Amino acid sequence: MNDISRREALQTLGVLCCGALMPPALMSCASSKQVTQKEEANVLTLLLDEYEGDTLIVKSKKYMYPISVSRSEDGKFIALLMQCTHKGCELRSEGTYLVCPCHGSEFDSQGKVLNPPADKPLRAFPVRTDEQYIYIDIS
Ligand code: FES
Repeated sequence: MNDISRREALQTLGVLCCGALMPPALMSCASSKQVTQKEEANVLTLLLDEYEGDTLIVKSKKYMYPISVSRSEDGKFIALLMQCTHKGCELRSEGTYLVCPCHGSEFDSQGKVLNPPADKPLRAFPVRTDEQYIYIDIS
C-alpha cells in the first residue's frame, strides 16, 4: 500500500496545535500538524511516519479525554488517557509533562505522578507498532 492510499484509508480527525487537538477549521497555529488516524474495533491506528518525536495528542470516539502518545528513551511508545487521577480534570501537555489545570498535579511521560494531589498513575493503553503504523488498544 503506498502513502496516498494509506492516508486515504485513515481519517483526519483533527489538527494538533500547540499541544491541543483542534478541528481543521480552527487551524491557525504556526506549529500545527495533521493527525491522521483510524478507530476501529477499539484500536486507534496512527501513521508511524507522522510521529516526529514530540507528543501527539489524539482523540477517540470512546473517551471524552484525549490520549497522549509519546516515545520513551528505549523507543517504546506509550499512550496515556489525559484524565487526571485526582478528580478527573483534562490534562494539558507541557513538553514531556502532563499538567492538571485544576489543582496542579503533574505526571511524567510514562504517566507516573510527579506532583500531588493525584496519587495514582495515569491510565496507559497497550501500544504496538509495525513498519507503518502505531496501534493503540483502547478497549
Ligand atoms: Fe487534577 Fe485535582 S483534578 S489535580
